[in-house]
Amino acid sequence: MHEFKYKRDILFCEEVKVQDLAIKFATPLYVYSWNTFINHYLKLKNAFQEVRPLICYSVKANSNLMILKALVDKGAGLDIVSGGELFRALRVGCPSSKIVYASVGKTDNEIEEAIKSGILFFNVESLPELQNINRIAGRMRKVTNVALRINPVIEPKTHKFITTGKLTNKFGVDFKTAADILDNGGSLSYVKIKGLHIHIGSQITIREPFVAAIKKVVDFIGVIKKKGIGIEYLNIGGGLGIIYHNETPQTADEFAKKVLPILKRCGLKIIMEPGRFIIGSAGILVVKVLYVKKTRDKKFIIVDGGMNDLIRPALYDAHHEILPLENTGYARSNREKVDIVGPICESADFFAKGRVMAKIKERDYLAITCSGAYGFSMSSNYNSRRRPAEVMVRGREVYLIRERESYSQLLRNEKIVKL
Ligand SMILES: Cc1ncc(COP(=O)(O)O)c(C=O)c1O
Repeated sequence: MHEFKYKRDILFCEEVKVQDLAIKFATPLYVYSWNTFINHYLKLKNAFQEVRPLICYSVKANSNLMILKALVDKGAGLDIVSGGELFRALRVGCPSSKIVYASVGKTDNEIEEAIKSGILFFNVESLPELQNINRIAGRMRKVTNVALRINPVIEPKTHKFITTGKLTNKFGVDFKTAADILDNGGSLSYVKIKGLHIHIGSQITIREPFVAAIKKVVDFIGVIKKKGIGIEYLNIGGGLGIIYHNETPQTADEFAKKVLPILKRCGLKIIMEPGRFIIGSAGILVVKVLYVKKTRDKKFIIVDGGMNDLIRPALYDAHHEILPLENTGYARSNREKVDIVGPICESADFFAKGRVMAKIKERDYLAITCSGAYGFSMSSNYNSRRRPAEVMVRGREVYLIRERESYSQLLRNEKIVKL
């Protein structure tokens, strides 16, 4: 459920007309609904309350400081993957005891910074990384907690670029390697293996892959327990899918009902790392129609947002519902097939192809829905375009939570040197 709804044919975010925001802050513009993402966080928390999980929101999904702060204020931890995300997490006052750190390629500096700040643990993705953390922790004379990320070899039935738990993916270690590492756990004196971690992919809309992966890892925990190897945490990752188009993903309650019995069996503290589930449908990208261009074969709606603002259609062929901010009767009864494209010099710069839409005119505004996750956080300055502003709505209140980049900010780190 989200809080972007038509009231008398006008699109609102909570109690605010989206068009008023587009006029006030200009476009392209990201608009987020506070009540939507907080509600999603609480839904998950409540569904799993029997095991009192630590929900570490996945910063990569949307890393705006205000969104992180709002979730941290509600008790969330954070799942990070870089020094930059650690910097953000600490900036919003996330207790370091609620930060978990994944990524297959953590650098020495990043590892050192994370050890210094006392994060809960690293999710370790390979033996060389584990040895490196041990070396750095040894140099710092600080024993450091880690969880081993297991690749459970599961087909999550999602887009191939966002599967992470198959044999061909670069993430985690297989069960055999994990068992060997745990058997030799004592040989690394500066790392303590406190947990196991899985994350099999993103936008997973069916429950079977989650259940299969969790079962596999819980069985494995049973085996290592018998050997006398004790761990404290099981981190089941993120990956819960949302409705972009006509998907029928599981709700938080359905998910909990299926996996809670298995989780309770293992008796460990549970960590979850949702990103998209929390913020995905809580954000839209508002764009303005610049031109309507007819060619012999097609009608192009050219808007002022581009693939640099929202790359998901170009990268994953992702479907986003696109809604007019004013859904008038005239528009509804004059439907036509169009391509909605941006101004960037790439044919991949599109938001929809061959989409049957209500009639669109120049200067209309459109909302590209479900853009809260992997929207702004994957944006770039390609074509020297300034990244958009971000606005958060809570009830009737509107907060500018990121200003549109200026031209001077675009150039801020560049130098013209004397040759
Ligand atoms: C390790 C890890 N945890 C959590 C997530 C969040 O995934 P999602 O946004 O699908 O919940 C990701 C995203 O790819 C990830 O790589």
